[in-house]
Amino acid sequence: MKTRVDELLSDVKDPELKEKYRYLILTLLEKGYFPGLEGVPVIKSGISHIDGENGLLTYRGYPVQELAEYCTYEDICYLLIYGDLPLLKERVQLRNELFTKKDLPASVSKVIVEMDDNLHPMYMLSSSVLLLQAEDQECACVNDYMLNYRRGLNLIAKLPSILGVFRNKDADFAAGKEFDSFAQYCLYVFNPELAFDKNWVNVFEKILILHADHTMNNSTFSVRAVASSLASIYASIASAINSLSGPLHGGANERAIKMFEEIGSPDNVESYIEEKLARKERIMGIGHRIYKTYDPRSLYMKNKILPMVFGEDSIIEVDEEMVNLYEIARKIEQVVLEKLSGKKLYPNVDFWSGLILKAIGIEPEYFTTIFALGRILGWVSHWIEHMKIRNKIFRPEQLYNGIGTRHIILDAEEESATTNNGI
Ligand code: ACO
Repeated sequence: MKTRVDELLSDVKDPELKEKYRYLILTLLEKGYFPGLEGVPVIKSGISHIDGENGLLTYRGYPVQELAEYCTYEDICYLLIYGDLPLLKERVQLRNELFTKKDLPASVSKVIVEMDDNLHPMYMLSSSVLLLQAEDQECACVNDYMLNYRRGLNLIAKLPSILGVFRNKDADFAAGKEFDSFAQYCLYVFNPELAFDKNWVNVFEKILILHADHTMNNSTFSVRAVASSLASIYASIASAINSLSGPLHGGANERAIKMFEEIGSPDNVESYIEEKLARKERIMGIGHRIYKTYDPRSLYMKNKILPMVFGEDSIIEVDEEMVNLYEIARKIEQVVLEKLSGKKLYPNVDFWSGLILKAIGIEPEYFTTIFALGRILGWVSHWIEHMKIRNKIFRPEQLYNGIGTRHIILDAEEESATTNNGI
């Protein structure tokens, strides 16, 4: 069979493409469908690109490490949405626009303040995004491109405010306050003191940038799938937030830090990992669908951002508990690389990010909301891009494995009752 597939693909010259087609044909022949849509291209997009074999991620062509090193949150917002990095003037304009749009309508902040504290922040966030639709009565009109840009920026601007109002139980959270940058405002939501320390803002901004887009991941695919029914930006972004909350996607950062705490000491790491693997359980923060080598975002976090917090020359102070968790994480990395490198599994971005977020004083249940504050740039860009293409609604197929067609069998009494009713 494999030889026949190779014959079929003999005209495909690009070796990478050939390998992709080969995988798809063999999967179809073997399984009859594509579990998890693995390897299946579902859209054409010019926003970001991953080379999983070589550990490369680019936003609009720029490697993510360079963007994290030299750019601001506003730059990445502009780059992803409009396609290029802004001039200084454009960056300032965008920043002003975000700050002009950041405050929530009173009706929405009132509802958010009343929301139950037991509601997970991710579900609070998705519900609140839907509430924002009330101030956009034209939301069903999705093909007014200028309006779509404004809608996108409006959502980006309001996301941290939703979190600030809920977390602080303050309907007027940050109203009238001024900030130097949007990343500073995002950090202010979680730690007003650290938000005035430039080093912490720098660290936080890099985390947001690293999360900003990542091709057709589960939450971005949710945006595209919902958008393909021509549903509103609110419906599409809310569905993305819900997708991101899952432990196999963005929710892994919350689980990873809990795992470090559960392990307690670097000495316990080896036995913990061995037991997990023996029970065939997943180690949170490890593995990725696309990367067959170290994820470049994860590598940047490990080599560039973590030393800013935990390194010997760090200008940021962290306590002993944090240092212990950092040591545990490093030991897990070592054990995982030893035991699982054959499966090409490496720590992903969610493995390292929680250490920094915890050092900032953010509660683990809020970790995934910070992922969302970064990723909303990508989600909005994908929604806008989607509304510009010649859309075809996502409507895949299934292989039915249920019961064959059958009929309701009535007994004599039921049959006569039905017949009489019919008369
Ligand atoms: N721990 C242990 N083994 C793992 C892990 C893990 N975290 N991840 C994958 N594997 C193993 C699987 O058991 C499987 O082994 P097998 O071939 O012997 O059966 C092999 O690696 C391939 O795994 P799949 O499930 O086929 O990989 P898939 O691409 O479907 O899943 C995923 C990717 C969901 C990220 C997976 O690696 C995982 O569950 N990781 C833990 C959760 C996590 O960290 N999620 C965050 C992802 S990154 C992000 O969303 C930002």
